[in-house]
Amino acid sequence: MQSKLEQLKSEVLLALKSIKNKANLEELENKILGRKNGELTNIMKGLKDLTDDERKIVGQLANEAKLEIEAVLQTKKIQLSQADWQTNLEKERLDITQPALPKIEYGHFHPNTIVQNDLENLFNSMGFMVLDGSEIESDYYNFTALNIPESHPARDMQDTFYVKNHEVDSETPWVMRTQTSAMQVRALQKYGAPIRAIVPGKCFRNEATDVRHEHTFYQLEGFVVGENITFAHLKGVLETVAKHLYGEDTKVKLRPKYYPFVEPGINGEVTCFLCKGNGCRVCKNTGWLEIFGAGMIHPNVLKQGNIDPSKYQGFAFGLGLTRLVMLKYGIEDIRHLESGDLKFLKQF
Ligand code: PHE
Repeated sequence: MQSKLEQLKSEVLLALKSIKNKANLEELENKILGRKNGELTNIMKGLKDLTDDERKIVGQLANEAKLEIEAVLQTKKIQLSQADWQTNLEKERLDITQPALPKIEYGHFHPNTIVQNDLENLFNSMGFMVLDGSEIESDYYNFTALNIPESHPARDMQDTFYVKNHEVDSETPWVMRTQTSAMQVRALQKYGAPIRAIVPGKCFRNEATDVRHEHTFYQLEGFVVGENITFAHLKGVLETVAKHLYGEDTKVKLRPKYYPFVEPGINGEVTCFLCKGNGCRVCKNTGWLEIFGAGMIHPNVLKQGNIDPSKYQGFAFGLGLTRLVMLKYGIEDIRHLESGDLKFLKQF
């Protein structure tokens, strides 16, 4: 009996070595001390069959063995829960020396886009559709169709970048469009009359760049063609735009100016929003700001758009969108706008 108890103890010690978790430990505990069929429990139950003297000795030994076994099991239990605790701790470990995650910065619109969106909304409210047009344009739509034939001096004022062997049509020269007016004839050919449209977008010119000149800038073209469209309508639209931009008291001044694709042509000025016409730095002491070119669409241009000039008339205007942006935000140097400089751009 004594040797049986010794064997049981060493069995337990051996089994404990390979135990990795609480479930296994419980299994072992049950095997030895389980009330129903535990090996030690059975030995204890067998005590009653022994003689009094034997029971005394064996009983004591069995009790000691039971205490020892319970103690090693308990120690193992503690070890296991400590290990658990450590793995949990490891999982929750927080590296307080890790640098903070960068703050998420939200993007925002470029100032050009802010002004463009504002004007698109205004023109939408007057029934104009918004057209895009391509930035690489054929020499025909950019110049010839607009009454600017090849030898015309007006081409000189809008020198641009020519694109050789353009895949769409390598026969005609292609240019980076110098003006959004290039969409006039395209739109007339596509949609016919009556039509009301604006074309905001990028234009390009071969400029010696300085604070007022940049190779890339934005314009916003507008045109209306229909029956009985007159110069008065043009003036009305321009005044609406001017008042929307600079307030109800803003006045519009129209002066004759030559553009080959309009007749008559005008240059439009509005009262300076800063000095209200008294003269200041922004308007160079004139009291006026020049912000658009405009006029009644030339019959030759209507013809290029397959429109009968004896039935339809129309007007066109070109707003210097980049100029409006510079005036709105007091930007002194046009080159900031295309520079991609974040220090500049983050201000808007
Ligand atoms: N396209 C002209 C320019 O770039 C402006 C303009 C547009 C003038 C429409 C008349 C009519 O200077």
